[in-house]
Amino acid sequence: MSALMDFVAEIERVIASAEGERQILDRLDHRMARFAAGADLIGRYKIVWNEARGDGEVALYEDPDGGIQLYLCGWRPGAAVEAHDHATWAIVAGIRGVETNTLWRHPGDGMRRHGPLERIETRDIGPGKVVAMPSDTIHDVANNGSETAYSLHLYGRDLAKLRRYVYDLATGQEGPIPW
Ligand SMILES: [Fe+2]
Repeated sequence: MSALMDFVAEIERVIASAEGERQILDRLDHRMARFAAGADLIGRYKIVWNEARGDGEVALYEDPDGGIQLYLCGWRPGAAVEAHDHATWAIVAGIRGVETNTLWRHPGDGMRRHGPLERIETRDIGPGKVVAMPSDTIHDVANNGSETAYSLHLYGRDLAKLRRYVYDLATGQEGPIPW
């Protein structure tokens, strides 16, 4: 079995034995960092770039039943994606360059959905760094550096099958995902 499929099998084992999302994230984040650092992903898999947007990705594994999705992602200098959710948990591990992630939350008790988003933290995800995001996380992504950033992204479910939103930071208003 390939290193990639070994890793996918390891992820599936962790998910099957974990009790809840927090445990999944706690048990997978260092595994993601290790695989991102050691698997020569940039040399082995060819990213499909959207040159207009300056970002790109290649699917490394997409569970055919709507489960985990693993992507190698790239961000040219200056590339950015507006604040959005995933409607599932997600883990990002840096490979080369720096992918800056800013995490946001809705104010209040969760019932009041609108109002300016509150910034939780900004994390520079370079080589060896990882950020684990529970399902209710809102984040935006940017490459503020001068070299292309590469990262490994893992999602708990097939994003294309989920109801997801982008967010206006000033109002908290949701909108449809434009990509
Ligand atoms: Fe995202």
